[in-house]
Amino acid sequence: MPRKGLSNFDDYDDGFDDDYDYDVDVEDDEHEADEPEEELVIAKRGLWRCAICTYDNDESMHVCDICGVIRHPVPGGNKTISNSAVEGRCKEPMVSKLAKSLFESNSLKKGVLYQPEHKNLVLAQGALPRISRGNIHDLHKAFSSKNSSVSSIAPFKFDAPSPDDLVSNGLKSSRTGPKDSMKNKEKQDSAEHNQTSSQGRHDNVGVGGIQSFKSLPKAKADKSKETSSSSKNMEVSESLTSTMNNMSLTGETETSRDVKIRSAKSKSNHKPEEWMMLDKESDALSQLNLAIVGHVDSGKSTLSGRLLHLLGRISQKQMHKFEKEAKSQGKGSFAYAWALDESAEERERGITMTVAVAYFNSKRHHVVLLDSPGHKDFVPNMIAGATQADAAILVIDASIGAFEAGFDNLKGQTREHARVLRGFGVEQVIVAVNKMDIVGYSKERFELIKQHVGSFLHSCRFKESSLTWIPLSAMENQNLVSAPSESRLSSWYQGPCLLDAVDSVKSPDRDISKPLLMPICDVVRSSSGQVSACGKLEAGAVRSGSKVMVMPSGDQGTVKSLERDSQGCSIARAGDNVAIALQGIDANQVMAGGVLCHPDYPVSVATRLELMVLVLEGATPILLGSQLEFHVHHAKEAATVVKLVAMLDPKTGEATKKSPRCLTAKQSAMLEVSLQYPVCVETFSESRALGRVFLRSSGRTVAMGKVTRIIQDS
Ligand code: GTP
Ligand code: MG
Repeated sequence: MPRKGLSNFDDYDDGFDDDYDYDVDVEDDEHEADEPEEELVIAKRGLWRCAICTYDNDESMHVCDICGVIRHPVPGGNKTISNSAVEGRCKEPMVSKLAKSLFESNSLKKGVLYQPEHKNLVLAQGALPRISRGNIHDLHKAFSSKNSSVSSIAPFKFDAPSPDDLVSNGLKSSRTGPKDSMKNKEKQDSAEHNQTSSQGRHDNVGVGGIQSFKSLPKAKADKSKETSSSSKNMEVSESLTSTMNNMSLTGETETSRDVKIRSAKSKSNHKPEEWMMLDKESDALSQLNLAIVGHVDSGKSTLSGRLLHLLGRISQKQMHKFEKEAKSQGKGSFAYAWALDESAEERERGITMTVAVAYFNSKRHHVVLLDSPGHKDFVPNMIAGATQADAAILVIDASIGAFEAGFDNLKGQTREHARVLRGFGVEQVIVAVNKMDIVGYSKERFELIKQHVGSFLHSCRFKESSLTWIPLSAMENQNLVSAPSESRLSSWYQGPCLLDAVDSVKSPDRDISKPLLMPICDVVRSSSGQVSACGKLEAGAVRSGSKVMVMPSGDQGTVKSLERDSQGCSIARAGDNVAIALQGIDANQVMAGGVLCHPDYPVSVATRLELMVLVLEGATPILLGSQLEFHVHHAKEAATVVKLVAMLDPKTGEATKKSPRCLTAKQSAMLEVSLQYPVCVETFSESRALGRVFLRSSGRTVAMGKVTRIIQDS
């Protein structure tokens, strides 16, 4: 069947346009590495041309200055290049760290500076741009600097826990393997974690039912008897690995042990029982999983906290407590954000690190609010939130300088978050242009932001009719749950307030009649040994007494009880975000990144996959042997590109070139990856939720796509 490259991404929830362009704002001066030549070409005298990226290097260079590829043939015959010559460059197969950074700086096209067009924008003196926590670039520097005392975050390495690992328990990698040093570290961490086992937010439910499916060790006093996978992640990680390693399939060869394809029973044979189907009369409200995303400091948590307070999910007393505590720590402006940012570290640093889950009801929906981190170091956590989203609020900071920083293609997260949303099939987005108070509720500023963000979102194939633009101020409570009282805003804005916009979001169709599938985002264990798997049901339904299978272990058990928004419930259906208490299952086999499924329809488990991907703007080239971080639902695994199958024509989706040597930004291609450890996965055609993937490298999302084939090694 002919594949339609980007238009095939259309299937991908109407994914990407034929003329999809990830970055319309910058000139396209990317290297078109479409014709890598077999032999070196001497470009000019004294220069040699790299066969991979076509950069003209100085004759004295032994490796390409741009992509780090070794010069071949070496000048002067068989002369071997000394190790020292390539030291630090070619440790990664085919591409060096230096090359990566060079490529990044190469594509560094200065962001969009809109101010000149708006010289006339009149702002009150007191309302000049400010970011409460100081300059945003300083903030970034503070977090990215190795020597920073603020953060101990180190760059991601595959042989050590990444910063994300340290904070994203839901995403905790299953990787362990023969890395003693890491194991030792895990044991050490595990011991520490046990001491702070009250960190999970499921045990701290109380403020608007706020929970988190990934949380950091928190220095809170132990007030709970439960631990989440957050505190157990190291143990879980070990057990996931051992589970995967011990996974035995009768009569399997060494290689086939790596893959466990779903049993032959076809899903089409599945007949839903009567109780599974939705009884519209018993519950008129539909379920809506709403992710709050956007660049760091744009006000996501403040907006979420304010909304929950206005809707009565946070009591006056509780709010007063937050205000007092925040003030006493010199962080008065974060009082509302504190409702969501629960950990001591989040509060101290003034940033969200894990996704906080809160609930409220609007006129039409039971809303599950997923307040995501905006900081670039926590994009994997944001991805974990976005994987559950039916719709999203993209928060933009309207203040001058902050919008531009957030929208910058390299330094900002606005575009990356929007791409991730689209990649996960989210179509409906409310763009909340926040902090309008800082720009004097200027209509011009709002329109300018709308114009630029709008054209980017259109390029990501969000339909205009699915976008709602709301100017608001979370801090001054303007346009959140009622029409603005501020005349500077109401004089030109008569559209819906944020809550009305949430109400007009359509809740998507759910696969209730399909067999149960629930990617596990967190695991809660009580002191009595009760284990609960938390997550969003992607398909099917469960109730107390239902038989379930937990993958990848294949253990079977029974549903003991269900909880939604910390309240017991009798049935959970596709779309519901629940905690499922399990019995008859070894608690060690239930882990974040795993999947709960119908015993007759186990999800596939694999290490080798064929993917159709689109390389994102600004990404470093993907080569054979490139090592990447592979993300699928709540699982993250180290991946190696083992085959570049074909480059695809972005217009027709047809293969234009077999076995390309390199994939660069904006190219789409079929490739094969080999994962370090198996993950639960499905092809995209089988399950969208389990077949969407993201590839990341050096803290950036470099490609996104879908699983087209699960490869069973012979
Ligand atoms: P991360 O989760 O770390 O990405 O940040 P965030 O987007 O959740 O931002 P947060 O809610 O923590 O707010 C950041 C800062 O912006 C805080 O100091 C808030 O007080 C401030 N802020 C948020 N909303 C508004 C607003 O509408 N107006 C003004 N003036 N400040 C705001
Ligand atoms: Mg936040």
